[in-house]
Amino acid sequence: MCGIIGVVGSTSTLDILLEGLARLEYRGYDSAGVALVRQGETWRARTANGTESVQALVRACAQAPTGVTTGIGHTRWATHGAPEVMNAHPHLDCSGRIAIIHNGIIENHLALKEDLLARGHTFTSVTDSEVLAHQIEELRAAGNDLINAVRLSLASVRGAFSLAVVDALEPNTIVAARRVSPLIVATTPGATYLASDIPAIFDRATSFYGVDDDQVVQLTPDGFHAVDLEGTSVQLTPLTVNFDLETAQKDGHDDFMAKEIAEQPQALRATLMDRRRGDGSFTFDEMHVSDEELKEVRRVVLVAAGTSYHAALVAKYAIEKWARLSVDVEISSEYRYRDPVIEIGTLVIGVSQSGETIDTIQACREAKLRGARVIGICNIVDASLARESDAVLYTRAGLEVSVASTKAFVAQVAVLELLALHLAQLRGTMDSAVIDDRFTELTEVADHVATVLSRSERVSLVANELRDTRDFFYLGRNVGFPTALEGALKLKELTYLHAEGYAAGELKHGPLALIEPGVVVVAVVTDPNLHEKILSNLAEVKARGASVVAIAADGDEIIDAIADYVLRVPATNPLMAPIVDIVPLQQFAYAMARGLGRNVDRPRNLAKTVTVE
Ligand code: G6P
Repeated sequence: MCGIIGVVGSTSTLDILLEGLARLEYRGYDSAGVALVRQGETWRARTANGTESVQALVRACAQAPTGVTTGIGHTRWATHGAPEVMNAHPHLDCSGRIAIIHNGIIENHLALKEDLLARGHTFTSVTDSEVLAHQIEELRAAGNDLINAVRLSLASVRGAFSLAVVDALEPNTIVAARRVSPLIVATTPGATYLASDIPAIFDRATSFYGVDDDQVVQLTPDGFHAVDLEGTSVQLTPLTVNFDLETAQKDGHDDFMAKEIAEQPQALRATLMDRRRGDGSFTFDEMHVSDEELKEVRRVVLVAAGTSYHAALVAKYAIEKWARLSVDVEISSEYRYRDPVIEIGTLVIGVSQSGETIDTIQACREAKLRGARVIGICNIVDASLARESDAVLYTRAGLEVSVASTKAFVAQVAVLELLALHLAQLRGTMDSAVIDDRFTELTEVADHVATVLSRSERVSLVANELRDTRDFFYLGRNVGFPTALEGALKLKELTYLHAEGYAAGELKHGPLALIEPGVVVVAVVTDPNLHEKILSNLAEVKARGASVVAIAADGDEIIDAIADYVLRVPATNPLMAPIVDIVPLQQFAYAMARGLGRNVDRPRNLAKTVTVE
């Protein structure tokens, strides 16, 4: 899931590219590169310095020609070929005149490469992407202009791409194209931009447009012209962009993760704001699924990946309990290839912070093709998932930059629980007074989160004491189970330590064999209905020498006798507790990672938005 950016027409092209790449780093930071073109000359710089790649590129660009107004840039997350300079983008054709950047995977690249080698082309990387440069080179040599060369070259390509191409013989043009991987185009008087994500260019342009699958766009300083693969003109979809520069900066925090953890009360309040009318009914953003259709829903399938999957797991408990609907939660990469059953009345909900995770988008597409109504839950207005779903519910968490998701998770749980209440209201499965109570409790959760944030010092102390631990097991029951999964995920992605989440009842079926002195068990014990059960589980791990960290409600005194460390949270309705209980677990992972000297915003090998399968 590399990041791409392009600019044509600006006298600050290089600066815009480099700043945009810094903002896109969350898409991959194995290497970075830019290409600048002017009449007859293509200049390229590439670096492969891991998380320092963009900074190294800035230094390398000190040698760049000045006054160039057309350029493309790339930050890479390696799929084919090691993260080395030779595999960094842009890739050039044999003449060195045509440069290409690509996000996605060309699945038939080996066959294409074999043909190109047979026709005498020389390859200088082991990437899948380079074949495109050589294909376009041949089509240009056959007399096609750049847009037609790119368009025709895509006919033979299988896989996913968002790409941008420049040619020193057409120096005031960039040609971009998309299939599956995200691509946007934007304009301002005198300059035109492209990017894989809005944050890269949100403050540069005034109008933004989404490129759809199999569309090819020619960008010039005066604007753009888009065609389909047959060459017929098409219109791009205008997009709404609601970022501001301030939200994209760290706001006085050491890193984005600290900022985003701190922003959780605000993210929750914004997400739940103005969601109810005076008559008690619920309002949503772009709900093109009617109340009548929702009343006919017989089964709900939630599809998601990573942290969003954990939010979806929490939603299962709420929708089943409140709306009395059967809910399946599916890992999106598994769902789409499984020949899923979609009966009449199946509602599919895709949950994705970015709205660009390829597996989740494809799972939703598959469900739609099979006749399901699809609701997208995402955090980025007009992201691909939002545009392709029948209805969209936005989490209004604001831009999330840190790779490890925090505020998006709590906002996702909140909006999914709101949807659960809406379904319960439509289906008549809850008294209206109880719905009122639950809604009020949900709106109060932001204050509980703020209380937890004020107790961060205690979390840091515990993290400091446990800094040498290498094995962690996270346990929970009911919604405490997805909370445990999410807590373990935070620790493992930030610290690179071994951490596993388990349903506490599963302990005896395997993991107990791994419990011994030195292991730390982190347990979510906030549910009063399951308190005794989970305490028994903790007694079992204590008896085998593990240390216990408990996330416990204020006023729970029994836990003090069992746990070695207690992190307190305000008591919350059990179904909403994950929103509160996850916060000390985020803080714990953060403090452990800082203690170990990790880069918390950009953990190794991971990326924020995963647009490859
Ligand atoms: C990546 C990110 C995670 C995120 C997951 C799903 O793995 O590092 O933080 O939870 O993708 O992303 P989505 O945008 O679909 O929620």
